[in-house]
Amino acid sequence: MSEDAPKVLFEITEKHLNTGLRAFPVGTCWTSKVDPMEGVSYVGRSVKDLAKLEPEAVVFLLHNKHLPSDEELAAFKADLASRATVDPAVINFLKGLPKQGHPMEWFLAGLNLLGMTGKTNDFQEDALNLLARTPEVIAAIFRIRSGWGEPIASQPELGLVENFVHMLGVPGGDTEALTKLLRTFYILHMDHGGGNLSTFSGKAVASGLADIYASMGAAMAGLYGPRHGRANQDCLNFVKTVGSSDPADIERFIRDALANKRLIYGFGHAVLRAEDPRATIQYALGEEICPNDDLFRTAANMRTVAVKVLQENPKIANPYPNVDAVSGTLLNASGLTDSDYYTLLFGWSRVVGISAQIVDERLNFRGGKGVAIYRCKFIAENQ
Ligand code: MLT
Repeated sequence: MSEDAPKVLFEITEKHLNTGLRAFPVGTCWTSKVDPMEGVSYVGRSVKDLAKLEPEAVVFLLHNKHLPSDEELAAFKADLASRATVDPAVINFLKGLPKQGHPMEWFLAGLNLLGMTGKTNDFQEDALNLLARTPEVIAAIFRIRSGWGEPIASQPELGLVENFVHMLGVPGGDTEALTKLLRTFYILHMDHGGGNLSTFSGKAVASGLADIYASMGAAMAGLYGPRHGRANQDCLNFVKTVGSSDPADIERFIRDALANKRLIYGFGHAVLRAEDPRATIQYALGEEICPNDDLFRTAANMRTVAVKVLQENPKIANPYPNVDAVSGTLLNASGLTDSDYYTLLFGWSRVVGISAQIVDERLNFRGGKGVAIYRCKFIAENQ
């Protein structure tokens, strides 16, 4: 092969068709990487090293590809606070939505309202505006749909997560514990490579030059699926059905579920082949904030029992916990007890990474020319 021949990255054969593009290299990603054994890293830094940083510093990292200096961080926080103005028409629109709609359906509507009332059609500007404004929309969805009361006025100077907890105003919630949890939760869920369904969907729609709000709506529609972001909601409900934190009871439950071909939620992953470090971090956090919570204890014991049982089946490529295995038990223990809202919290965080990747594809890749409109090939069949 001549020296300047392009390197073959992956050989596609007929057996790869209709497999969901699994493992197909179709582009590059500057924000994160998912190693099957090490898990996710943001711009070369393991999520384990980033989990305790200031959340705004990690937002800065994904959007600027380096961690901020103290001065840069202070300026970035002030800039985000200055962008966090939501048109009252958006909140008023939410008040008219049907309560039977899922919180993620409300979020899709809210994103499009944010676009209708505030887009500039400058991808970089709209990306930062979107992630600065979505916390107020999401907090309003919680309060209006749950009947907690009127939306609480934003105080962006408190900080991204602190203001979000303030606007949630969880009835009977422990503000300090919830803030501690959501600071880590926010960082852990921001990005996960270029090919997860929500990120891929958002980039695909943006490649047609739809604005970032509409593109993020497509991304969040992808996240809404139970095979993707809504798995965290199903995971907590699964842990609840176990009914015991006793390891022997858990083992009996797992074996019965497998025997009856029921899903074991929270374990396995399309790319990972070891415990998801985002789960590892959350198990440790749970021992700090809710060590005696029964559902957390159940999830913590499932971490060992389910793996032991799943490892008995050689056909299971990844028997280990993923990000969703324990996240719901921590949210539940911190006062956010309605699991219907858990994917919305995933979306609150994931808009950070997706907005950064959309900006990269629209403005930075290919020497600033950007990525062409997505147009893959489907082979005609049965026609
Ligand atoms: C994610 O964080 O997006 C999920 O782990 C799913 C994935 O990576 O495909």
